[in-house]
Amino acid sequence: MRIVRLALAAAIASAALPAFAEELALMTEARAAATSLPPRLVTALNEEIARSGPEGAIPVCRDMAPKMAKEIVASTGWQLKRVTLKTRNPQRATPDAWERKMLEEFDRRAAAGENPAKLEKGEMVEQANGTRAFRYAKALPTQPLCLNCHGPEDKLTAAVKARLAEHYPQDRATGYSEGQIRGAIVATKPL
Ligand code: HEC
Repeated sequence: MRIVRLALAAAIASAALPAFAEELALMTEARAAATSLPPRLVTALNEEIARSGPEGAIPVCRDMAPKMAKEIVASTGWQLKRVTLKTRNPQRATPDAWERKMLEEFDRRAAAGENPAKLEKGEMVEQANGTRAFRYAKALPTQPLCLNCHGPEDKLTAAVKARLAEHYPQDRATGYSEGQIRGAIVATKPL
């Protein structure tokens, strides 16, 4: 009996090991794809704000961010999406059920004292069509730079407010303070 149990345990361990190794490899890949976008975006935002003011940098978040995401998708095979619980662009950034769960979990973990810049989670999920996908989410906390366009009303210039009202009449993405979680970047790979 004991031997059977031991043999069974060994069989389970050797079946679990490749699955674990696969998830670890996917997690590393997903993290690399997802974390390559935000620093490039921050550099582009800083440059454009210096050149043409925060209102002039709005197209960086609107047009350049999806373009950079597309390049990363093409070179890595990971789909990238930015999501949030308070959208500026609801067409692009409305979370699906899994993404919503991650965003809510990140807010809870940050409120419980975890560093928002370190919040991430990756897991294997079953998709609606029955196939598997690996999904990874990383929190995007606000830095001082972000408050130019996502901060409280008194931090936004009249020009930024006017430009946002023109492009995003349903904007819900203002009123953030430094360190709050603005959203998450999500990397997904169907397997
Ligand atoms: C110059 C203005 C500007 C700055 C600075 C800025 N953003 Fe944005 N942000 C925007 C605009 C405009 C959009 C809408 C983009 C779109 O149309 O998809 C947006 C969208 C987003 C989204 C997608 C979710 C949504 O609400 O549509 C996230 C996440 C986000 N910004 C995070 C940040 C973070 C984090 C920073 C700081 C590192 C930052 N932004 C700095 C203007 C800005």
